[in-house]
Amino acid sequence: MRQKIVAGNWKMNTLVCEGVELVNGIVSKMGEVPSDVRLIVCPPFTHIVSVGDALKGSRVSLGAQNCANQPKGAFTGEVSAAMLKSCCCEYVILGHSERREYYGETSETLNAKMALALENGLKPIYCVGEKLEEREAGKHFEIVKAQIEEVLFNLTPEQMAQVVVAYEPVWAIGTGKTATSAQAQEIHAFIRATLASKFGELAEEISILYGGSCKPSNAPELFSQKDIDGGLIGGAALKADDFIGIAKSY
Ligand code: PGA
Repeated sequence: MRQKIVAGNWKMNTLVCEGVELVNGIVSKMGEVPSDVRLIVCPPFTHIVSVGDALKGSRVSLGAQNCANQPKGAFTGEVSAAMLKSCCCEYVILGHSERREYYGETSETLNAKMALALENGLKPIYCVGEKLEEREAGKHFEIVKAQIEEVLFNLTPEQMAQVVVAYEPVWAIGTGKTATSAQAQEIHAFIRATLASKFGELAEEISILYGGSCKPSNAPELFSQKDIDGGLIGGAALKADDFIGIAKSY
């Protein structure tokens, strides 16, 4: 059985007090969420400790949105995987399209981040997805395959077992345009087949999340697809009711 996951990527939103309030709201409604669904919140670095404290004793897990590609040292402004682990983070989002696009993250950088995250006991949520022009040119399979091969194919099966994959078509992120459930299922099945070509049966155990304008109204249809194991949620993760509404979609 694959783990069902609904993860919130808060991006650069909320002040610390707002983040704590948001997470208190989520925790107070956890009774409504089926017990086999894992909820994860990924606040900004500055909120990790306070949000982590607010989550203690609940079924909600803590993640970060990024980590450094170096273990420690003179890298002003960076936050290491070990630091995140020391704040009780369990997950870290790696390779989000905004990091690839605005901060020049390449597969080389991501290989280093992936290795450090895993060495420090963090579970990476590795994001893949094509841009609009790539989909329109019919290149989405090729792009997603390369993003998987260049990073995930370097892992051992033991490491791969720790990874969650998130398919996020760039054209659907924050745009209100969602991939149809058929479009999403098609590429999720392709991602699983690509993983199976390297890792065999392990691919059946890997959770593959959909991300991109996922909300309570479209989550049930998306999550009913065979290869969609949950969602990575941006905008709708900033309201406790919407986030819980999505988690209740199973
Ligand atoms: P969105 O963002 O739900 O606001 O489209 C998803 C993401 O970027 O993870």
